[in-house]
Amino acid sequence: MTLEEKLGQLQLLDNPAAAADRAAALDLVRRGLVGGILNAHGAQQVNELQRLAMQESRLKIPLLFGYDVVHGYRTIFPVPLGEASSWDPSLAEETARIAATEARAAGVNWTFAPMVDIARDARWGRIVEGAGEDPFLGAEMARARVRGFQGRALAAPDAVAACVKHFAAYGAAEAGRDYNTTDLSEWTLREVYLPPFKAAIDAGVETVMSAFNDLNGVPASANPFLLTDILRGEWKFAGFVVSDYTAVPELIAHGLAADEADAAAQALNAGLDMEMVSRLFNLHGARLVRQGKVPLARIDEAVRRILRLKFRLGLFDRPYVDETREARLMLAPAHLDAARRAAARSLVLLKNQGDLLPLRKDLRAIAVIGPLADSQRDVLGPWHAAGRAEEAVTLLQGIRAKVGAKTEVLYAKGCEIEGGTTDGIAEAVRVAKAADVAIVAVGESAEMSGEAASRTSLALPGHQLALVKAIQATGKPTVVVLMNGRPLAIEWVAENVPAILETWFAGIQAGYAIADVLFGDVNPGGKLPVTFPRTVGQAPLYYNHKNTGRPPQPNNKYTSKYIDAPWTPLFPFGHGLSYTQFRFSNLQLSRTRLSTNERLVVTVDVENTGQRAGDEVVQLYIRDVAASATRPVRELKGFARITLAAGERRTVRFELGPEHLGAHDRHMRFVVEPGEFRLYVGNSSAGGLEARFDVFD
Ligand code: GLC
Repeated sequence: MTLEEKLGQLQLLDNPAAAADRAAALDLVRRGLVGGILNAHGAQQVNELQRLAMQESRLKIPLLFGYDVVHGYRTIFPVPLGEASSWDPSLAEETARIAATEARAAGVNWTFAPMVDIARDARWGRIVEGAGEDPFLGAEMARARVRGFQGRALAAPDAVAACVKHFAAYGAAEAGRDYNTTDLSEWTLREVYLPPFKAAIDAGVETVMSAFNDLNGVPASANPFLLTDILRGEWKFAGFVVSDYTAVPELIAHGLAADEADAAAQALNAGLDMEMVSRLFNLHGARLVRQGKVPLARIDEAVRRILRLKFRLGLFDRPYVDETREARLMLAPAHLDAARRAAARSLVLLKNQGDLLPLRKDLRAIAVIGPLADSQRDVLGPWHAAGRAEEAVTLLQGIRAKVGAKTEVLYAKGCEIEGGTTDGIAEAVRVAKAADVAIVAVGESAEMSGEAASRTSLALPGHQLALVKAIQATGKPTVVVLMNGRPLAIEWVAENVPAILETWFAGIQAGYAIADVLFGDVNPGGKLPVTFPRTVGQAPLYYNHKNTGRPPQPNNKYTSKYIDAPWTPLFPFGHGLSYTQFRFSNLQLSRTRLSTNERLVVTVDVENTGQRAGDEVVQLYIRDVAASATRPVRELKGFARITLAAGERRTVRFELGPEHLGAHDRHMRFVVEPGEFRLYVGNSSAGGLEARFDVFD
């Protein structure tokens, strides 16, 4: 390979069809100066581009085709924050498997997922793309999704290479403002933000995407501590690192690089292997090598990593995709069934006063109200790949399909999601008064979360709260269905509306799945993977916080709280109700004293004391009461979603070892420190059965 051809492999180009200079982009492919293309998908389009590389270039090296298949390719599943609400890693693996099947059939052999950024600040729009605020749940979901995307053999026609992103701590953006500075201690980096990445790498993820953000003064895409010391030195990662979109030239704006050549040199020398969209590696790489500013060995190492993936994907043997598979795999009935099941399992029942839900299917009339009640576009969420709005099932459609012919389903939009006027509220009130129950679908548009979509408010946008208040004021039993990409500060709704169902953006089968839950064909079992604050002023708010030296006390002014609002969350991490009830009892520990390298078995009995089968997510938290570096008041270290028949009682077992009890000390050594530990087992991060045990040296 010539140096120019080697540098070509480090180039990830945007789809030439969308390029300003399409001919120039195609010429680069033809000359073998492109390693991969993003945003090109569809078997025919991909094969055309692949033929250009394979038949006209000198070395005939096949291209990678990358795409943001984040929660589905054409069959769109719940957004990742919704899927994380299922607390069901096997479900996440299943949906990723289906996404990979459809994507590979469309010529995509590399997905820019899973996004595993921990997010503690609901103002940050990309909270929707990850698994929420907790590193343990985040790690479990990351592991499952990598397994799902990559399957058992990368060369199989239903596997794609995964790309864990955005490395690292992108979710710690100051003030929740996307792309903003992140500045945090190494302790927090290692304890909170890195574990899901480590889990993805342990699961065999083939690639990593470096993040946009400046991390402690060194932008992640040119950060040797991240890209070399941790990724290669500590974790022995053998795949390659691709930058995020034009993150290399952005090193100049960051104030790290003096010019383009300096940006390319710093990124390459830090350990970045492939450049997305921008072309500084290609334009400056040869001169940097000749000047001795970038060792040729560094280029060779990056090229090897990229070629190795192409071999593992089988692209040298089968560079083209079978164009007959695509049509029959897209939206296959089994895929749609999985999407409906995944959506139902992702729903979180936040409130159900007086057991208003589930609704009867033979009501005389139901009013379906709100700007999100009949929106096909929004239920697909912000990253919907090849999903098509016209193929999505809305809440209104789902309810109409669910109820009997005798039930009249009335509809009124009421207001817009944002902006607009209150003129439509009167009609919505009239429709509600004509019905036996009112279902009001409110929240955010799909564009209000995702990339470059941070908000300074967590309130319901526009006139939606006025709409909810007007419907509630009719005195009709009212159910609020939330569709949103982040926790919302809905204190009035939580205090005044009897039933609230969190649905996030539930995907292509949203309407059917939400109706399954509203009418009781599915008993909701989801739990919040993020904390809901009462007001945006509390952000960032998360359950695994430190205790401080003055933990909040209601009757003591001089403790850590606010003078103008409660310091507690509206709904805590791990919260979620069911149509049945569960009782926890008989918490047992295999020992109450153990050495730092011994293991502890914890069992608890869970009984379904209600009248119908249901799911409970049993959650285990620990607290290291005194450590050389202070530990959070609670840390999730185990969970299990179980299904119990009415009256059924089951013993659930957890095992804790040093990997659970340990943490980084003030010298960044991962150790289990002797002393008292508390243990909590329950159905959320609040309350639960409590025990204590002691660890000794
Ligand atoms: C975007 C996103 C990243 C995505 C990439 C390619 O800017 O930050 O998550 O994978 O570009 O679309």
